[in-house]
Amino acid sequence: MPGYDFFAGVPQLPPDNIFFLASKAQKAQGKKANLIIGAYRDECGLPYPLPVVRKAEDRVVAAKLDHEYLPILGHAGFVEAAMKMLYGDTYNADKMIGMQTLSGTGALSIGAQYLYQTISKRIQREGTGTVPTVYVSDPTWINHGNIFVTAGFAPVKTYRYYDATRISFDLEGMVADVRGAPEGSIFVLHQCAHNPTGVDPTEEEWGVLADTFAEKRHIIFFDSAYQGYASGNLDRDAFAARLFVSRGLYFLCAQSFAKNLGLYNERVGVLSAFMATPEERDAVKSQWEMLVRAFYSNPPAFGARVAHIVLTDPELRAQWQQELDHMSGRIKKMRALVRKHLEETYKTPGTWSHITKQIGMFSFLGLSKEECAYCQEHNVFITLTGRANMAGLTEETAELLAKTIDGAVRKYRAADKL
Ligand code: LMR
Repeated sequence: MPGYDFFAGVPQLPPDNIFFLASKAQKAQGKKANLIIGAYRDECGLPYPLPVVRKAEDRVVAAKLDHEYLPILGHAGFVEAAMKMLYGDTYNADKMIGMQTLSGTGALSIGAQYLYQTISKRIQREGTGTVPTVYVSDPTWINHGNIFVTAGFAPVKTYRYYDATRISFDLEGMVADVRGAPEGSIFVLHQCAHNPTGVDPTEEEWGVLADTFAEKRHIIFFDSAYQGYASGNLDRDAFAARLFVSRGLYFLCAQSFAKNLGLYNERVGVLSAFMATPEERDAVKSQWEMLVRAFYSNPPAFGARVAHIVLTDPELRAQWQQELDHMSGRIKKMRALVRKHLEETYKTPGTWSHITKQIGMFSFLGLSKEECAYCQEHNVFITLTGRANMAGLTEETAELLAKTIDGAVRKYRAADKL
């Protein structure tokens, strides 16, 4: 149509909250703590390319590999190693399928697309049924809703997860919401190191959740972005996924290697699924191949080759475990230091034990929106929900964080609560 301008009237959207705040924090002058984006920093606050990854990179470069296409579902050796890392003894090649993805976000997106398309085509074919509702934890990673809405699911609802009063996991609330959701709903679960709260179910509580999911025919989608970051131990951090396999609960799982290998920009991830039969596995594989071929044809090779070497070379694998211990240990040290400054240096009113009870990269500090805004105004960049990347702290910024929280609390909390 002549003169038709399909760009006219396109609504302007707000920027992504995490990336917007991260760049604002990066530009801020003076003494500051940038605790927005979930990325690990070393003792000096600098990015930390893992030494083991450097070694593996050198090997990839030295091998002078060709630049040929990978298969549609990616580097098969890497995918298998990643699945074995996640599923351990419960890995089952007959009933599981995996593919390389553009990090955890790509795995969630392709998985969401797969679910939406399969379900809506089935509804069309059978002339009956409805598209299920997606449930994410309240709160959750800001991108979860976006991913499922973009795939076609709307609206995305929340299930109870975090009890703000007790600053802990709300088992009763979550069980009630899993039971209350219509059968066949989609539940997104954080496999470990819940983002943003750092609050995970205990192993016993995972058992209760597995029992509850077994009662309902819900579709489970794990997001596993922090294996190795919660406890420092890859096996312990895979407890939930392995438990669900051993209970015969089918699910999809998105794995990211951004954090545990520090491969933030290489976009290395895996989407896997556990199902009932080899026939289902082959059918799902064919669907994923069709989707990937349509979206980006096949994934990039470099990061997957690096990850494959680290995961499969016994010497490098052992070194990686040591580096995971080091990183998770440093995060725990920073948590303890912030708590110590709050309790002992500044004698800040309130209780702060949750900071050392929470695990993984993030702490949900338990601050009000105005207290968080106060922190941002004082060059301590946390989100307005009170999420702080503890892996971004140094000894100096740990004290700055505590001092600024102290200022916020004393300014905004009612006198009777001080
Ligand atoms: C975060 O939550 O900060 C990270 O997972 C980075 C991102 O993509 O949001």
